[in-house]
Amino acid sequence: MRTPEQKIPFELSVGEVAARSGIAVSTLHFYETKGLIRSNRNRGNQRRYPRSILRRVAVIKIAQKTGIPLSEIADALSTLPHDRPLAADDWHALSLRWRKALDERITRLTALRDQLEGCIGCGCLSMQECPLRNPYDALGRDGSGARLIEP
Ligand code: FES
Repeated sequence: MRTPEQKIPFELSVGEVAARSGIAVSTLHFYETKGLIRSNRNRGNQRRYPRSILRRVAVIKIAQKTGIPLSEIADALSTLPHDRPLAADDWHALSLRWRKALDERITRLTALRDQLEGCIGCGCLSMQECPLRNPYDALGRDGSGARLIEP
């Protein structure tokens, strides 16, 4: 008995990858220019992708949904070979790598959300008082005066 994956041809056209992954052809081309995926050319100079590309595209989609920048996704995927499907161990390593970044982003956004409460209805945007305008008075550490327009 064949599994659903075995029914997928060994090589896929860009249209087939788009149809099976739900990603636009133009996005797949973009991913390719960024080095996230690779294709081979057939005799007619048309792109052909190994069926393992579907798993790689799924990982890219999931990572993008969680807010991981494409450059970070490309960096992480560059450590994995293109000539075999991504395995569970690969996904485990990727998710560990991205979890830390996600935790940091959540912490930063939570703090930003909490600071926003004090600003609602205020509108002062004071460099001394407003935590959104000048978080943690970062500019104040450089000295007094108009820090953004002085060299
Ligand atoms: S706008 Fe007034 S404290 Fe942020």
